[in-house]
Parts: sequence; C-alpha cells; structure tokens
Amino acid sequence: MSNSNDPGDRFDIDAPAIQAPTTDPTPEPFEVKFAARVDRLPPYMFGRINNSLYQKRRAGDDVIDLGMGNPSDPPEDVVIQKLQDAASDPGNHGYSKSNGIANLRREVAKKYARKYGVELDHESEIISCLGSKEGFSHMCLALMGPGDTAMIPSPYFPVHMYGVILASGNVVALDVADPDKFLRNVAYTCENLTPTPKILIVNYPHNPSSAVIEPDFFVEVVRLAKKYRFLVIHDFAYADVAFDGYMPPSFLSAPGAKDVGVEFTTMSKGYNMAGWRVGFCAGNAEMIRGLGTIKGYYDYGMFQAIQIAAIVALRETEEGVQRQSQIYQGRRDVLVSGLRRLGWEVEPPKAGMFVWAKVPEPWRSSMSTMDFAMRLLEEGNVAVSPGSGFGAAGEGYLRMSLVENEHRLRQAVRQIAKCLSQTPATAASGD
Ligand SMILES: Cc1ncc(COP(=O)(O)O)c(C=O)c1O
Repeated sequence: MSNSNDPGDRFDIDAPAIQAPTTDPTPEPFEVKFAARVDRLPPYMFGRINNSLYQKRRAGDDVIDLGMGNPSDPPEDVVIQKLQDAASDPGNHGYSKSNGIANLRREVAKKYARKYGVELDHESEIISCLGSKEGFSHMCLALMGPGDTAMIPSPYFPVHMYGVILASGNVVALDVADPDKFLRNVAYTCENLTPTPKILIVNYPHNPSSAVIEPDFFVEVVRLAKKYRFLVIHDFAYADVAFDGYMPPSFLSAPGAKDVGVEFTTMSKGYNMAGWRVGFCAGNAEMIRGLGTIKGYYDYGMFQAIQIAAIVALRETEEGVQRQSQIYQGRRDVLVSGLRRLGWEVEPPKAGMFVWAKVPEPWRSSMSTMDFAMRLLEEGNVAVSPGSGFGAAGEGYLRMSLVENEHRLRQAVRQIAKCLSQTPATAASGD
C-alpha cells in the first residue's frame, strides 16, 4: 500500500482470482437500504394532493392549480431569443464554469449596485447556482455538520428545514409572523442553547406566510450575528415580486452584512425563468468559497447558453419584472377580495407569490388542513397547498399561489364557495 494522501492511492491491493461457485447461492431478496439521512426525511406532504391532481387531470377535469409557486407566464421575448441564438453557437455546448461565467456574475453585481446600493466583487463575493435551492442546500452542506444547529423561520419552506437535516444539522424553528418577536427569539435561543446556534436562516418576503420586514430588521440581524457569532443565510427568492410600492430590502444592504452572511437570489420568480435553474449567492467571500468548493465536486455549472440569456434578462428586462409584479398584484386583489366576500380571514400580501389564508370556521376546527385542501380539490377542482406541508405551525392555513390568471382566480373563488356551501356536518353525513 502507498503512503500517499490521496485516498484513492491507499488501497493498491492485489486480490486473488474469484473462484467460480460450485453450487448456486440460495437466492435472497435483494434489499436497497437508504442512508440514514434519507430516513430522517418525512413523507412528502404534498404527495396526496399532487396524486389526486394528476389523476383528476388525466380524467379530463379542469383543475385550477394554486398549489405550487410555479410561474405560468413566459420570460421576455428578448431573453428567449438570446437563448436560441446562444444555443445555436457550437462554442456554448461544453462544460461551463461551476461557479458561473464572469459576465453573469458581473451583471449580478451591477444589479445589486443599481437596486440596493451594495458593492460586490463578482470574483469572490458572487457565485451562480443551479437555482437558489441547489445553492442553499449545498451551502448547508458546506457549513453544517453533526452537532451544529440552525435557527429557521416557522412555518418553513421545506428546504430551510431539510437542507439542514440532510447536512446532519439540528433545527430550532422560530415563529416568523412578527419580525420583532422573531428577533427576540433569536437572541433568546442564542442565550439559552449550548452550543449556541451556528446559523440563522431568514427568508423575507417569506414563503409560505408572505411576512415581510423593513430594512432595520437586517441591521438588528447583523448586530445579533456579531454578538452571538452565528452566520446568516438570507433566502431572497421573492426579491423582485412586491406590491403597492413596497420594496423588499436586501440583507446585504445592512452595514456589516458581508462580515456575517450571504443572500440567495433567483431568476425563477420575478423573471419567470423557474425551469431554467438560475440562482445566485452573494456576500461573505469565505462562505461563497465554501459553497464553491462543494459545487466544484458536485456540478459543472449551468448550460452556458442559459447563462448568456440570463445576462440579457438581468440587463434588459427590469421593466418586464416590474410588469410581472403588477400582474401578481392584480391577481392578489382578485383572490383576496373574493375570499373575503366568502368571509375568510385573509390579509393582502405586500410581496411574494402567495396568499396565506386562515381556513374558515367551522371547517378549521372540524378537520385537518390537509383534509380541507383535499376537499377543495376533490369537490371544488381547486388545488391549494395545506399549511401543514410547511410544518406544524402552518396547520389551520392554506397557501394559494398567484399563478393562475384573474379570470381563473374568480372561477376558483366561485368553485370554493360552492364546495363549502354545506357545513362540515352535513358534508360528512352526505346530505
Ligand atoms: C423561499 C424560496 N426559496 C427558494 C426557492 C427555490 O427557488 P429556485 O427556483 O431558485 O431554486 C423557492 C421556490 O419556490 C422559494 O419559495
């Protein structure tokens, strides 16, 4: 055996030839055992809804799908055209750079300077990801290990919880609804947990609850991070989708933010490019380097034609992004006013792609949120996400995506009204 530090060199063994068996071994069922980390994942909460949705559609039912936050409008024409041109160039079909081509990262730096007044070095402080979810989960892998704890918002977007779990970390989930309370709970957790948490994960505008914050919030986050020495990851997926003049603040615009954390952004939502898988991580150079190290082993980066078209999207389609926000705002108004007419308690979100609605009584106290969502689907042909899919704190709520047009949203409200015209008791007795 060699003494090299390369683990591949240490097992230079010379095994004897394999003897052919004289009798066939007794056939035993061949079992595939997953790694323990897979056993830590719960059953997929949206599986029941998705199966039923799929079957209904196969049977020809017209289901109005307010389930997933999957944009249904296309990117701007100029972006699609650029993708076609770039795909026609034979030079764009090889492996690209795992951390993204420099011009794309430069364009991200320019957007941060233009929109938030934040200066970033595109070489050391920005990395491209295969969608922000990939970047986020690999950042967890770069930073977390057994015994490490992350504080996350509750209810939670599943990868905020399971990105940490898959990295063998532990989670403390803190109520996200009231930003001041959230910050108090961060400080309290740091004072009382040993060892103190390693990471704070924040996400504003928040999915699923649509909670938002003002810039002061991040000033306090940075202060607490420095005091208790935790790292910050801000998931800023809904940076570009905001209403009524509200502008979601960037974590990186808080003084000192780059000392303690990073921010993930995406082209999935505001730019309608969800299937393209283009996301970014920006901020603390050491954290970016850690993510780059993991990504260097796992992937070869995005298809270069996509990166080139993404540059055009960032450079030339800011107006389209604003127009798209207005479209979501119009849909929000239709859905919120429709639900309120039915007597639902629902606040109009200031940003993001979701209405987070309390399940109305008497349904709320007579069935689980999952069963209620199934009822809307089975009998009303409207698919929504049960709040319980975002952890126990989401029980009693539904998340409704603004991805269908205004006409379909009005129709959805009518179908919901019809399906809830019976009380739970009469519905159960079949009257
Ligand atoms: C809060 C949040 N973060 C991240 C993502 C994933 O975005 P991407 O498409 O960039 O991976 C989503 C998508 O729904 C999201 O809601």
